Amino acid sequence: MPGRTIITGASGSIGAAVTRALAERGEAVVMACRNPEKARSVRERILAEFPAADLEIRPLDLSSLDSVRSFAASFDGERISSLFNNAGAINRGYALTGDGLEKTFAVNYFSPVLLTLLLLSRMDPDARIVNMVSLTCRFVSLTGSALRPAPEEFSQLGTYARSKLALLHFFLELARRRPDLRINVADPGIVNSNMISMGRWFDPLADLLFRPFCKSPEMGAVPALAALSSAGRNRYFVGKRCLEMPRRYVDPEKGRQLFEETLRILQQPF
Ligand SMILES: NC(=O)c1ccc[n+]([C@@H]2O[C@H](COP(=O)([O-])OP(=O)(O)OC[C@H]3O[C@@H](n4cnc5c(N)ncnc54)[C@H](OP(=O)(O)O)[C@@H]3O)[C@@H](O)[C@H]2O)c1
Repeated sequence: MPGRTIITGASGSIGAAVTRALAERGEAVVMACRNPEKARSVRERILAEFPAADLEIRPLDLSSLDSVRSFAASFDGERISSLFNNAGAINRGYALTGDGLEKTFAVNYFSPVLLTLLLLSRMDPDARIVNMVSLTCRFVSLTGSALRPAPEEFSQLGTYARSKLALLHFFLELARRRPDLRINVADPGIVNSNMISMGRWFDPLADLLFRPFCKSPEMGAVPALAALSSAGRNRYFVGKRCLEMPRRYVDPEKGRQLFEETLRILQQPF
């Protein structure tokens, strides 16, 4: 029996589209979601189309490391074939989580990293790990206190982009240390979802002028679905293409430093 696929943020636009596509293929999915009601309505919608779909909802709040630990512990004795680190947030303001981490970094970076590390021992030998990144990564760099920005270093888009860039670097280093795993990234492009609402006065204008030109969640799901079934490693999936990791992201020394610093912050052995 193959293990199941875990999808974080399966209640969101792209997460739900990927869950639906896997259900259509007959693959079993664990929907890792913070809002059970929203997750249930996505599950019911998919079951209405595919009544035999194997979809289980398990609670996961990525703004809490304890929630990540409980979620991971719930897989004791189970096997995992793929992990899709899809959930993400683009917070308007600076905030700290109960763990003392900047919240955007907690949700987009520290929790997916911790979740992955805690689940490694349960993964099938050729398990797939797919991380959702963003084209915004190319416009930022990681320096100094990037993982724990101070309030004056925070910006809505900049912090979001740096959290995704950190995810990319961490997983390149994990792939170097664990060549048995199929670790890839997916970039969905610009997708018509909640994510592109900035919580600002200009949102209604952007909804009118910009949203109609964004991709549908189904289109945004295409790179992740390709990555989830790929036997490749360190590939960058975007649109319908599977690219070599862009050279601007390949920096082994930065990856090593970031990896070590992250394990220190999380107090997580590897
Ligand atoms: N939309 C784009 O243009 C775009 C572009 C590049 C990358 N991405 C990335 O694609 C991924 C999916 O985004 P989307 O466009 O589908 O947006 P979305 O519809 O807003 O979905 C985001 C998902 O993340 C979940 N989430 C947020 N905070 C969480 C937390 N603390 N704990 C657990 N789950 C949490 C949300 O849960 P709730 O359902 O409870 O809100 C939701 O399921 C994200 O990683 C995003 O950064 C999106």
